[in-house]
Amino acid sequence: TGPCDIYASGGTPCVAAHSTTRALYGSYTGALYQVKRGSDNATTNISPLSSGVANAATQDNFCAGSTCLISIIYDQSGRGNHLSQAPGGSAAQGPNVDGTDYLAGATGATGYRNNQAQGTATGDSAEGLYAVFDGTHYNAACCFDYGNAEINSKDTGDGHMESIYFGSGKNYGYGAGSGPWILADLENGLYTENGLGQYSNNPTQNSRFVTAVVKGDNGNQWAVRGGNSVSGGLTTYFSGPRPPPDYNPMSKEGAIILGIGGDNSNGAQGTFYEGVMTTGYPSDATENSVQANIVAATYGTTGLTSGPAINVGSHVSLRATTSCCTDRYIAHSGAEVNTQVVSSSSTTTLKQQASWIVHTGLGNSACLSFESADTPGSFIRHSNYALVVNANDGGVVFAQDATFCPEESLNDAGSNILRSWSYPARYWRHYSAELFIAGNGGPHFFDTPSSFNDDTSFAVGTAFA
Ligand code: AHR
Repeated sequence: TGPCDIYASGGTPCVAAHSTTRALYGSYTGALYQVKRGSDNATTNISPLSSGVANAATQDNFCAGSTCLISIIYDQSGRGNHLSQAPGGSAAQGPNVDGTDYLAGATGATGYRNNQAQGTATGDSAEGLYAVFDGTHYNAACCFDYGNAEINSKDTGDGHMESIYFGSGKNYGYGAGSGPWILADLENGLYTENGLGQYSNNPTQNSRFVTAVVKGDNGNQWAVRGGNSVSGGLTTYFSGPRPPPDYNPMSKEGAIILGIGGDNSNGAQGTFYEGVMTTGYPSDATENSVQANIVAATYGTTGLTSGPAINVGSHVSLRATTSCCTDRYIAHSGAEVNTQVVSSSSTTTLKQQASWIVHTGLGNSACLSFESADTPGSFIRHSNYALVVNANDGGVVFAQDATFCPEESLNDAGSNILRSWSYPARYWRHYSAELFIAGNGGPHFFDTPSSFNDDTSFAVGTAFA
């Protein structure tokens, strides 16, 4: 049995069902999602095993030696409500030449959209939504959403959206503590009750996997619920009337978004594993059974790191492996991170500039952060896609941007690649002797697929200083 079987028996069937992890119907055997390989742009579909879980081996084999992005998330409901790369909207054009948003990395799961969805709620009609997110991957920007939005990718006014939002944005309504929270994006406002400001009944989510529920009935009733996807049940944070004055009646339009705002605001980050949209207002009991089904699916992690060990506390050098550049090491000149030719006869100053102290990741303890050996308290972070050395300001954004997960190189088992924690489809790459976070085949000059595997591979050694 899957979540959509449970919704169907509750009389509120799924009209959209998306997952990059598992079948959401007991009988679903079709493709879950499509991945696109960086080295040759070839695509393949990933389907469930007989257990219902995504066939990771197919993906691993197909993507081996390169990178993969998720190009389509298929709708399992049979209505054809597939999600693909979101087009530009009124708030933002995506970074690609045609204005589309980035695709998500296939191993970390961001802007997807379907502006022609069929069977989703429109106007003031009822719907239910749930999604499972990574509770540790979020920011305060607008808007990591999943659910119902405008069919023209523009902000068409209050009440034209009804999506789940996950993040720590405090511009509208928000919850207790510092976030992240499960909120509802109802357009021109994130809400957790029938008003704005802090609402202490909606807790900060602390679990690795979060089940988020938003539902809206016709006739001025809606609710926000949530829980830990790995254990326990759902708690209702709010159930009651819509925020006045413009959200009753609702003017839902029925498009489906993932990872963006209704107007394609695309500053948010997050990871989505599964979610559905129903027709009709699901009962709490139906949703509680869905949560039990999610818990039974035993979400877990297999570890974010691989490749040669890089030990916390060690002082390291990082040597480029591209054939042009094997005498060059990651160093910095002021704030700029670059590669420079360094050897035992280099000046002490240069040796120190090319030496890094390994720390537990500031933004994720399973990954790493790199402090400059000559500038205590300053770390490598990405800023506007370039790597820079900046003083740690103690903030959440700094912590996330300064966190990198080491993995085995795509083509050299003796080297590491360093994945950005906040942009999981991007890796450290040297390009014209400067360091960037690069995506294989993305829109920036430093994203070129040519030499990607070599340029992202760094040999980790003992530090010069
Ligand atoms: O409601 C918050 C955001 O405001 C919506 O997602 C977006 O369409 C608008 O910018």
